[in-house]
Amino acid sequence: MKSPLLASLVVMVAVTACGSGGATPSPGSGAPPPAGSGSARVDPSKLSAKDAYLTLCAVCHAAKMEGGAADHAPSLVSPTFAESATDDFLRRSIAFGRPGTSMAAYSKQLGGPLDDAAITGLIALIRTTGGVPLKELAPLAPAGDVTCGAALYQKNCQSCHGDTVARGQAIHLANPRFLEVASDAFIHYAIENGRPNTKMVAWKGALSTQDIDDVTAYVRNFAGKAQAPQPLLPAPTGDEPLVINPKGKTPVFKLTEDKYVSVDQVKAALDAKQRLIIIDARPPSEWRQVHVEGAVSIPYHDMTRLDQIPKDGTWTIAYCACPHHLSGIVMDELRKRGYKNAVVLDEGVNEWHRRGYPVVAAPGVKPPPKEAPDPAAPPPPVPSPGKPQGR
Ligand code: HEC
Ligand code: HEC
Repeated sequence: MKSPLLASLVVMVAVTACGSGGATPSPGSGAPPPAGSGSARVDPSKLSAKDAYLTLCAVCHAAKMEGGAADHAPSLVSPTFAESATDDFLRRSIAFGRPGTSMAAYSKQLGGPLDDAAITGLIALIRTTGGVPLKELAPLAPAGDVTCGAALYQKNCQSCHGDTVARGQAIHLANPRFLEVASDAFIHYAIENGRPNTKMVAWKGALSTQDIDDVTAYVRNFAGKAQAPQPLLPAPTGDEPLVINPKGKTPVFKLTEDKYVSVDQVKAALDAKQRLIIIDARPPSEWRQVHVEGAVSIPYHDMTRLDQIPKDGTWTIAYCACPHHLSGIVMDELRKRGYKNAVVLDEGVNEWHRRGYPVVAAPGVKPPPKEAPDPAAPPPPVPSPGKPQGR
């Protein structure tokens, strides 16, 4: 099966040979509205688990952990998640994050704010809040057919979950860090039973057990493209110069909603050697993977370095991967302190990186997969006809 043409032929033939194909079940109710957040300036590892959660996590996962406060962050307390996510799953998800998404690495070992004890505390809190005991899922013998799974996945799952080249709005299943922590049994269980009260429906019934085995095998197969972890950039010292082009002119920005500046305008200002400050609002662990050239690390959970921002009208642009939530916390704090020219990088750092604008990146860190359009949004313009689909 060397020729791609032959391979795609096999896929086409196999489609007809696979199971039911899956009727689309009706979605459950959507995600709940946003909740409040905190902005502590002390070591989050010293906080109680509840305060650490409210300070660091609630901005995206919502105050009651039901998810959806920002960036389509998943529920941490959905009963089927509580039943199937082991402590190890939770620990590694929190410690290492999901690179290329707004889920940062929170472990101190990677430059994040939390030590092991604090992560253990959060795991216990997530368990109590979920209130559903962990089930021992029987290990799954690999029984799925990847080719059949591919067709089912493209039809039923890809619009929300993306693939290796594009990210959807839901959890990115091709993310190497997800595949490291999620067992086949965990994935199978999620597909079968869904995540109640989220857009993830239970596919049991719509898909046969064989279908679910096939899709599970296909998701597992994404790992073939995974990379070994790479060394990080050195930790920020806190002495990195704040102002970029200190002798440059002041840029003229056109803001949206009085607070967002586009990546194109900021890139143009850098090209024109204009004076500005760029703040990376994510945990420093993320800055150590990749950051905008010249950006200083002032994370949303420790904003002490804001004291050093000059009060001379210098434009100060905060960004995150979100693209607005963590940067919004930093901008709000600056404005509260009287900095009128504090703004948020509208599209965020992932889009900056995808466009090939200047970054400093650890070895092997590539631009994140592009964001697939929101399936709820109006469809994009129809491409010109003539070319057959596929390769
Ligand atoms: C800036 C938003 C944001 C913040 C802050 C954040 N998360 Fe997340 N988290 C996400 C997103 C988005 C995902 C899903 C990533 C993906 O698409 O794969 C996620 C995934 C997770 C997962 C895996 C869930 C699953 O079903 O696979 C866990 C566990 C988690 N987060 C816990 C936490 C904890 C605990 C904190 C605080 C220490 C935290 N997160 C802070 C956005 C965030
Ligand atoms: C309408 C959008 C949508 C579709 C279609 C969809 N999902 Fe999901 N899926 C989600 C969302 C949203 C979540 C996270 C829900 C939460 O916990 O907040 C999720 C969660 C999951 C999880 C659990 C991941 C984790 O870390 O907790 C798996 C596995 C999964 N989906 C696989 C699939 C597969 C396979 C299909 C196709 C058969 C599919 N999904 C179809 C939206 C969707």
